[in-house]
Amino acid sequence: AEIMKGSFPHFMLKEIYEQPESVFNTLRGRVDFKNNVVTLGGLRSHLSSIRRCRRIVFCACGTSYHSCIATRNIFEELTEIPVSLELASDFLDRQSPIFRDDVCVFVSQSGETADTIMALKYCLQRGALCVGVTNTVGSTISRDTHCGVHINAGPEIGVASTKAYTSQYLALVMMALQLSEDRSSMVERRKEIIQGLRGLPDKIKEVLKLDEQIKAISGSGLHKEKSLLILGRGFNTATSLEGALKIKELAYIHCEGIQAGELKHGPLALIDEHIPIILIITKDCHHSKSISALQQVLARKGQPIILCNTDDKEIPQGYTTIRIPSTVDCLNGILAIIPLQLLSYHLAVSNGVDVDFPRNLAKSVTVE
Ligand code: G6P
Repeated sequence: AEIMKGSFPHFMLKEIYEQPESVFNTLRGRVDFKNNVVTLGGLRSHLSSIRRCRRIVFCACGTSYHSCIATRNIFEELTEIPVSLELASDFLDRQSPIFRDDVCVFVSQSGETADTIMALKYCLQRGALCVGVTNTVGSTISRDTHCGVHINAGPEIGVASTKAYTSQYLALVMMALQLSEDRSSMVERRKEIIQGLRGLPDKIKEVLKLDEQIKAISGSGLHKEKSLLILGRGFNTATSLEGALKIKELAYIHCEGIQAGELKHGPLALIDEHIPIILIITKDCHHSKSISALQQVLARKGQPIILCNTDDKEIPQGYTTIRIPSTVDCLNGILAIIPLQLLSYHLAVSNGVDVDFPRNLAKSVTVE
């Protein structure tokens, strides 16, 4: 069937708004909320070899790479297997050592990105167990890996990836949950996360209600800025990088995602009353450190827009806040990216960009 935009002016906006359903579809049939069990059928026959590996290597490009950053934290916590992150192009440049007892996970919306496919070939040759996480049944990466997960987000047409990101993120969290089901020390933690998954679609609907507020923020002059910083840490390191990528790709504004912990090691020099800053602070174990990043920004007269939880009473008065519902710590990034997707969309529209086809970019880059 032909994919239609329906009442939406762009595919991208339609895909942002589809996230309550695409996230639901990623979870569907895989999570038993009663017994707190996650089953990804495509991994079942390889589970024991994956659990025995000495490290997991995530390999991807662009937004897919950000979903790897977003979930590395919970992957390491639940599985206690070290996870390394590789941008496919850089991994190939380095010809990094790969061994038979490595598990390599290739994350790709299209399953056809040349750099990621070349990295897969390289790892297959070296005898590693290769796992695919894709949104495209029958794609090269889904065919050539030993096993894998289909993220079931549905076709994504907009060049800037949105719903694929949130579904990749979830698929990787589910993979970590399944891999750790034999670990008795993780029973309570796994239960907390699995119960958190259940509420996600409704919480995404809540976040989407912020659209008008975000449009107003975008329209208040932000689209004319030359440069924009997005600060986040912990579970939102990836959110800041992915938000910045969306704004670069679509609004053609220089935007930098900065790990808040690195602020004092350089980026603080950029902060003054003029530079636009978005600071992400969610209620999790990194909260007090994020608040201290906020203090550092305020001390330099920064005027941040603060992306935070609805119930956070520690955010000082007098600043623009974007308030999102809270969820389990490791799922925060799924809700936090959505306001930034919407912001990049509105900035792009204000700047007259053809949102679904930004200049110089392709949906799937099939050359190295
Ligand atoms: C291109 C697209 C990006 C995408 C990246 C990786 O650069 O413009 O949106 O994130 O490729 O694509 P993949 O299909 O491998 O996820």
